[in-house]
Amino acid sequence: MKNLDENTITDAVLQRLENTPDARTKTVMIALVRHLHAFAREVQLTEAEWFAGIKFLTDTGQMCSETRQEFILLSDTLGLSTLVTAQNHRKPQTCTEATVFGPFHVEHAPVYALGADVANGAKGEPCFVNAAVHGMSGEAIPRAKVEVWQADADGFYDVQYAGDDTHRARGTLFTDEQGKVYFRSVLAEAYPIPHDGPVGKMLDATGRHPWRPAHLHFPIAAPGYQTLVTHVFRDGDSYLDSDAVFGVRSTLIAPWIRHEPGLAPDGSLQRTSFYTLDFNFVLNSD
Ligand code: BEZ
Ligand code: FE
Repeated sequence: MKNLDENTITDAVLQRLENTPDARTKTVMIALVRHLHAFAREVQLTEAEWFAGIKFLTDTGQMCSETRQEFILLSDTLGLSTLVTAQNHRKPQTCTEATVFGPFHVEHAPVYALGADVANGAKGEPCFVNAAVHGMSGEAIPRAKVEVWQADADGFYDVQYAGDDTHRARGTLFTDEQGKVYFRSVLAEAYPIPHDGPVGKMLDATGRHPWRPAHLHFPIAAPGYQTLVTHVFRDGDSYLDSDAVFGVRSTLIAPWIRHEPGLAPDGSLQRTSFYTLDFNFVLNSD
């Protein structure tokens, strides 16, 4: 193939992919090339823009580390994570909806007994969470593994505090025989996603803010059921309609009720105001 021009280059590349041995790789590569070329044609990409794009992707890669997943942030802020989540978790309406995973999960977070304080010193007003995990026929799911992680009063996850690897406001719990899971933590606040890198520049350049509405993260796993990766969002948060990563679903918004000082759900006497959150999760069968 010689003398390729703007009209013939796409077919030439597609032809070169014809012998791709793995069928799925072939499908993905062919679609990728078609869409990439169509994009360059649609915007009549200049050489300066092409180079700026290469530099942006290079900077994104160079920003990545063990604790900073800039490419995941890019996928999240472009809505790709939500699209992939949605098309891989089509399920009956009665099931709890899935949403994005995010970059702040930690493997092997400490296991807590039901009722424990998972805050472990995280800053914030006390919040008592009471949840139930059921299957689609209403059956309680005992011994489901429930992980939780959240931001503190300053809008930071524990892993964002450099030089301190204490687990705070995160933990692993297991439901009881009635499928109940409950714990104490702190009130989660809205927070900006990390925006001091290329993704932050992209948000600035497109007139967007980096904020996520307050939420708790909840992956829930139990044998015989599809693992659910989701959030519970705080009703009334001002970012519910403009989440930087497009993760909000109305079925995942719940009231976090403020209480005056007094008796808390765990029987303790609270000298300051505190919050409670109740939520029921419904898992789809395998
Ligand atoms: C999070 O909810 O932790 C998150 C999700 C996507 C991007 C950044 C943070
Ligand atoms: Fe989060």
